[in-house]
Order: sequence, then structure tokens, then C-alpha cells
Amino acid sequence: MTTIVPASTSQALAASLADEGVGSLTVPSYDRFADGETLAAVPEFDDDEAIIVASTATNDAHIELLQLQDAVREAGAEDVTTVIPYLGYARQDKAFTHGQPISVRAMAKAISTGTDRVFMVEPHEPAVAEFFTVPTESIDAASLLAEPLSDLQNPLFVAPDEGAIELATTTRDAYGSGDVDYFEKDRDYETGEVELTPSDAPVEGRDVVVVDDIIATGGTMSGAIEVLNSRDAGRVYAVCVHPVLAAAALTKLAAAGVERVIGTDSLERAVSDVSVAPAIAARLDE
Ligand code: R5P
Repeated sequence: MTTIVPASTSQALAASLADEGVGSLTVPSYDRFADGETLAAVPEFDDDEAIIVASTATNDAHIELLQLQDAVREAGAEDVTTVIPYLGYARQDKAFTHGQPISVRAMAKAISTGTDRVFMVEPHEPAVAEFFTVPTESIDAASLLAEPLSDLQNPLFVAPDEGAIELATTTRDAYGSGDVDYFEKDRDYETGEVELTPSDAPVEGRDVVVVDDIIATGGTMSGAIEVLNSRDAGRVYAVCVHPVLAAAALTKLAAAGVERVIGTDSLERAVSDVSVAPAIAARLDE
């Protein structure tokens, strides 16, 4: 048998994986000392195999993952799989100016020391797998994003930048009908401001689904929604794999006039209406 070890960030998803028959859950403890240090620990277990499920959207979550990896080895696990539904720092995948780190490489190296293999869900760039020093694979989640969508009027699936065209196309294919288009995006890395250049696709009266891998500050998505609403689109849906939803992101989307925000449980948020558990379970079973 296999023991599933949830990080504090991924408890509901870990439970869904147990429901999918991936293994049995253990109940870790997540503590914090007065100086701010965290301590994640696992109870004793008899299984040789452990699957740690840990989204790493925060620095603490990264530390917690490293602690759980070490803890399961201490508890006797001989085979450790690490499932990272959302890999933080994945957008820091190059040194943008002299002197910057490739942060995700540093994270990947550290994570690799405590595991035999890694599975990530829809990382920002699949090439990030090359930074890990153990076998690492990506799990596709885009085809799940259409699940909550129905009765769209003459739908248009829009990628807010070129990098998301494949996601938008896969979501359209899963929905079963509609066109695909994309915006050009420029981001000012000093201010974080996003400038979107819309395409010429007609949107008036059409339901539009904007599809991106991540909604973080909501700047990209709310910019796209504003443009679409200024062009008299019908209902505009904001759909993503990873609903980071930092700070006032949800309010930005609401203020821009979004019909509904949909994300997956790679990050456990109020909008996480799609579960990636079946996709992860299927891959772990291969
Ligand atoms: C960028 O390439 C990503 O695909 C997302 O568009 C971006 O990370 C979203 O960030 P934010 O919500 O802060 O605009």
C-alpha cells in the first residue's frame, strides 16, 4: 500500500486522491515556532511508498514540502513520489537581468534531493522539468477546464497572451465548439502593469472564455475582461488552472465585469471548482 502525505496547502486534493484509490491518507502535523520556523511531521506508517502532495505557492509551503520529504524518509519510506499540483517560482525560470537567480532551478534542485520522482500539474513552462535532478513529468489539466461550462452562446476562447493559446485550444476542444483567439501582452516588469493588444476577432454578443495557466494578481485577466466588455462581449468567463488569486485579484476580476471565475484545486480557493485529482490519479497509475 501507499501512504498519501498531504501538505497543509493540498489537503482537499490529497483526500480526493485517496478517494481515487491512489493510497491511504496519513495525517501530518503542521506547527510553527515562536521564531517563525515551521515544523511539518508525519506519524509512523508501515508503507514503503509515500506520495507527498504539496502545492508550493508560498515560501513556507516550500519549506513544508522539504520537511515532509525528510520526515517520510525518517518514517521508513523507501520510495517517495512528490506531486506538486502548483509549483511556485515557476515564472522565475530565467535571470531577467544580470545578478538575478533562476529561482525555480534552486527550488527544483532542493525538491529533487528528497524524492525519487516528481509530477507537476501544468507548470508555467514544461521545460522547468529539466531543472529537477530526478525523473519529472508534467500532467495536463487544460482538458478539465471546460467541465463547468455549458450553454455558451457562439463561444470564443481567448488566450490573454500567445503562451496560453494551447491551453485555450485544449479547453475549446474539451468544450466541443467555439473559436480560439489570442491577445498580445506586454508587461512592464518595473510596475507590473500589463498592456494587452486585442485581436480583431468579433466578440459582440458572444460568450467569451479567457483561459490562462495562472491568475496571480489578476492584472492580465482583468485587462482582458475589460477589453472584451468594452467591445460588448456577452458573458465573460475567467478560467485558469492555478487560481493563485493574490491580494485583490478576485475584486479586480469582479470590477472588470467577469461572469464567473473558474480554477482547479491545484490551489484550494473558493473558485476551485475543477478537480485535477482524476488526472493525477490516472498518471500515477501508469
Ligand atoms: C504569464 O505568462 C502567465 O501565463 C499569466 O498570464 C500571468 O502569470 C498572470 O499573472 P497576473 O495575474 O499577475 O497578471
